[in-house]
Amino acid sequence: MYIGVDYYPEHWPEERWPEDARLMRDAGFNVVRLAEFDWVNIEPEDGVFTFDKWDRALGVLARHGISAILCTPTAVMPAWVARKHPETLALQKDGTRVTWGVRKNNCFSSGTYRFLSQRVTRAMAAHFARTPNVIGWQTDNEFGHPFCYCETCRADFQHWLRRKYGTLEALNRAWGTHFWGHRIQSWEEIPIPIDPGSHNPSACLDWQRHFSWMNVRFQQEQVRILRELCPGHFVTHNFMGLFPELNYYDLARDLDFVSWDNYPVWGPPEVRYDSSMAADLMRGLKPGNFWVMEQTAGPGGWGTYGRNPRPGELRNVCYQQLARGADAQIWFRWRTCTAGREQYWHGLLGHDGRALRRYREAAQVAGEYRRLEGLLEGTAPEARVAMIYDYDSLWAVRIQPGYGGNDYVNAARRYYRPLFRAGVAVDFIPPSADLSRYRVVFAPDLYVLPDAVAEALARYVEGGGVLVSDCRTGVKDATGLCHERTLPGLLAPVFGIEIQEYETIPASAAHPFVGRDPVAGTFTGTLSADWVIPGTAETLASYRDWHLQPYAAATRNRFGRGTAYYIGTIAREDAFYDAVVRAALAGGGVSAPVVPPAGVEVSVRTGPRAELLFLINHTEEEKTVRVPAGRVELLSGEVTRDELTLGRFGVAVIRMRP
Ligand code: GLA
Ligand code: ZN
Repeated sequence: MYIGVDYYPEHWPEERWPEDARLMRDAGFNVVRLAEFDWVNIEPEDGVFTFDKWDRALGVLARHGISAILCTPTAVMPAWVARKHPETLALQKDGTRVTWGVRKNNCFSSGTYRFLSQRVTRAMAAHFARTPNVIGWQTDNEFGHPFCYCETCRADFQHWLRRKYGTLEALNRAWGTHFWGHRIQSWEEIPIPIDPGSHNPSACLDWQRHFSWMNVRFQQEQVRILRELCPGHFVTHNFMGLFPELNYYDLARDLDFVSWDNYPVWGPPEVRYDSSMAADLMRGLKPGNFWVMEQTAGPGGWGTYGRNPRPGELRNVCYQQLARGADAQIWFRWRTCTAGREQYWHGLLGHDGRALRRYREAAQVAGEYRRLEGLLEGTAPEARVAMIYDYDSLWAVRIQPGYGGNDYVNAARRYYRPLFRAGVAVDFIPPSADLSRYRVVFAPDLYVLPDAVAEALARYVEGGGVLVSDCRTGVKDATGLCHERTLPGLLAPVFGIEIQEYETIPASAAHPFVGRDPVAGTFTGTLSADWVIPGTAETLASYRDWHLQPYAAATRNRFGRGTAYYIGTIAREDAFYDAVVRAALAGGGVSAPVVPPAGVEVSVRTGPRAELLFLINHTEEEKTVRVPAGRVELLSGEVTRDELTLGRFGVAVIRMRP
């Protein structure tokens, strides 16, 4: 198992390198990630490459048994690139170029930048292909920025549209350019839809897709070279969890596995739902287990720094990822830099370079992981529940949310958090995924619903699946036009409802509703109300306000051998979603391996050799969990009784099988 740090030997005198490597080895680390920002030293002048320093650094690491992941260094262009080729700097909306001196500031359609990217990738790949301790590559660093509005990007967009639509008739139909007299008469007329608040929403959606595709293409150009010259190395990229600008399924396609950067410690200690949700999404991209390429190692910040992880909290953060499918653990960063914008982004070591508390906690984790690694091998989380996570819907909602406050990621959170609280595993899947292995599928806010996806969902329910969905599902087709059907369109018979009208609930208002079994209680509808007319569906919750009394706030319908729930509003209370999720899980026959108390996370990794149950306490209080007796808790070596107590931020790993 690879455990280590993001290391910047170029920030420190060479005399320090052996000491760093020794401390890493002593901590149980065996890998570093290197060089993602060092293009200027690798290619100090146009076409002149020097690797001596990196050879020496890799040599020091090798002597300490430490392997390396190298990065294509294209996240920061050297100053000479900006000087010689100013058009490689992204053009901002105001028509000015990005000022060189930050990072991620290149235009992705620039032929020059793409050429330079491929040339430096080729030079590095050729040089390091046979360096024994180089094991793999990270492409660039955190793709996703910047948007560029230059003429090259515009031409690239036009070209991309031409390939996508073939004819202007098809483009005009897809974008609905009869509105406002926007018919496009030649490809060159197509503008960059610069303002997503007022340009044609279909054009905006394609512009976002094109941006995503440009990043994928840029990565592909590097990957092709790495595959050719370094066939023995893996290629990955450091994703950013719930980052919304790229279609991460597409970005993952050319890689061997997904890695991601996890920075959860900011506010007061809290249940880290989002790092868990992000991990599940990362696992869904490829799909498969993932690496953590950057893991928070201390207080971070570019101006002001955040909270220091409390004793035990770094360990807790790691186990959360391990439990959700992380197969490697790399801390960001080794030592806090004394210079530059990230002076306050703290590493395991401080500015003083001493191996203190955070280092010791990381070393403890490494020691524990080494003990677990034999059993962990080949294990992964397995889920019978899926969450459809769709970038088209995410983007379309951002471009035109419909009701105020509509947020696609929040829609996923509405159902994810109850699943987390219930201790039930979930896979994140694209809408095109095969649903047959899942008993329950959540598809909240599935705003963009091509007919093929609606038909697959209908077949899934008909065949016995449980489906849960809510407001704004099925409004638009793949090109961003509204369907010409009464909502929820093709899913109307599946949910057994019809939605003829709908509205935003302003922030100053709310519509109480009363639920009956299995969602008994009084709740509050906020943000949005679909005026749901039940057909074959049974009403599970009804509004109190007179004008909404004819409509259902929540329904359930038998369709074929399955069941479909429709939630017509956004409830303020967590308890409502807990009840919906409980009912859906019960209907699908899905239960948790262990029912956790509040604040404790449960996850299972299953493999041919073992089934490991992880319990993670996200609170600063002791928590007692009812667990199966007579199994071994691997961190303490103790045999379990019916109850197990976790200390503050405590973790336990119970071997359930064999
Ligand atoms: C990102 C980057 C790192 C570093 C950290 C902290 O995750 O990949 O290079 O900048 O953020 O800011
Ligand atoms: Zn550009």
